[in-house]
Amino acid sequence: MDALQAILTRRSTRKMKDEMPPADLIEQVIEAGRAAPSGSDLPLTHFIVISNRKILADLARIAREEFAKMEEAPDMYGALRRAIRASKTGDYVFHYNAPLLIVVANKKNMANAMADSSCALENMMIAANALDLGACWINQLHWLTDKKAVQDYLHGLGMEKDEFVTGGLILGYGADGGPVRGERKPKGNPVNWVE
Ligand SMILES: Cc1cc2nc3c(=O)[nH]c(=O)nc-3n(C[C@H](O)[C@H](O)[C@H](O)COP(=O)(O)O)c2cc1C
Repeated sequence: MDALQAILTRRSTRKMKDEMPPADLIEQVIEAGRAAPSGSDLPLTHFIVISNRKILADLARIAREEFAKMEEAPDMYGALRRAIRASKTGDYVFHYNAPLLIVVANKKNMANAMADSSCALENMMIAANALDLGACWINQLHWLTDKKAVQDYLHGLGMEKDEFVTGGLILGYGADGGPVRGERKPKGNPVNWVE
């Protein structure tokens, strides 16, 4: 698959098999993230690659506990409202029980932290598609990055004290074996051609 096809056919895969992809494929996806451009070429995007089932379950529980403490508000982002509601009923697993979660962190107070991390995440999603793996950006730990319970747990996994969660990615084989794929119908993003 050429690069443009990998970009154009990439879709989010949320339902995954339990099976762990081989290490060399996972490493290629991480390397694609590490190869992303960054402001001033600073290698500050930090990848915490989690395959341990207990740790994944702990993170799901901590996120659920934090969301359950929050109150829904009418002007809230829809996905956050749904996370709060589902957490209060106790059955919310933000990472969809994928075999692998890559927590992406970056330095606090770095102007390019979000942009650099986004370049890395997009590279990883495209690489996953090219390697026949499913992937989906997973943002809940970013939403919860100011919560002490989340910080304490992630510090135990190697996130530095001067870092915060910028995003995340689940990775694995899609439930049907391959990744979800499909060319996007025109979405309506505005484009102005000025000639
Ligand atoms: C910044 C960002 C945050 C996202 N957060 C989540 C998330 O937390 N959970 C999720 O299931 N999908 C998440 N997504 C995936 C989007 O829902 C998905 O990319 C979008 O609906 C378009 O679908 P596609 O990826 O299949 O093209 C996120 C995507 C982006 C770019």
